[in-house]
Amino acid sequence: MKTLLIVYHSQSGTCAGLARAAWYGARQESGVEVAVKRAWDAGTADLALADGVMLVAAEQSGALSGAMKDFLDRTFYPAIAKSLVLPYVLLISAGNDGRGAQQQAQRILSGYPFPAAAEPLIVRGELCAAHEAASAELGQAFAAGLSMGIF
Ligand SMILES: Cc1cc2nc3c(=O)[nH]c(=O)nc-3n(C[C@H](O)[C@H](O)[C@H](O)COP(=O)(O)O)c2cc1C
Repeated sequence: MKTLLIVYHSQSGTCAGLARAAWYGARQESGVEVAVKRAWDAGTADLALADGVMLVAAEQSGALSGAMKDFLDRTFYPAIAKSLVLPYVLLISAGNDGRGAQQQAQRILSGYPFPAAAEPLIVRGELCAAHEAASAELGQAFAAGLSMGIF
């Protein structure tokens, strides 16, 4: 049994909805347990229990949202000390851009070093059915890859 950890930060609900959809998609894969944690509550111990991590966060002021940055800052050196190398996928919610958050997250994650299991997904604007479907698809694809040992 593999474990997929979904870590999210949501100030006004959009990323929470995306994380919920990703959780729903990932749950369709029988060989994977899915744990969901708010970024403020997640730590290195959660990463150590996981086989892959999905990060769901917003772009704020051209950068990664504060709680997700805090999560990465808190776990960076402890993860390196434990030699944790987890495949990750990144889902960014943004009003009209998202590229700043994406670049910042990718740069930080390359330092762990965590390999990307898929291209980052940026969804722009308010949460809608299409965004939920894309998030569910990404969650399911990541879980399927973990289950099959692709990543
Ligand atoms: C303080 C603040 C700063 C923001 N800065 C950006 C930004 O730089 N670029 C962008 O595309 N959207 C920006 N947004 C919009 C958010 O990324 C967008 O509303 C997102 O869906 C919020 O996710 P959440 O509801 O999970 O908090 C900003 C929102 C807030 C509240």
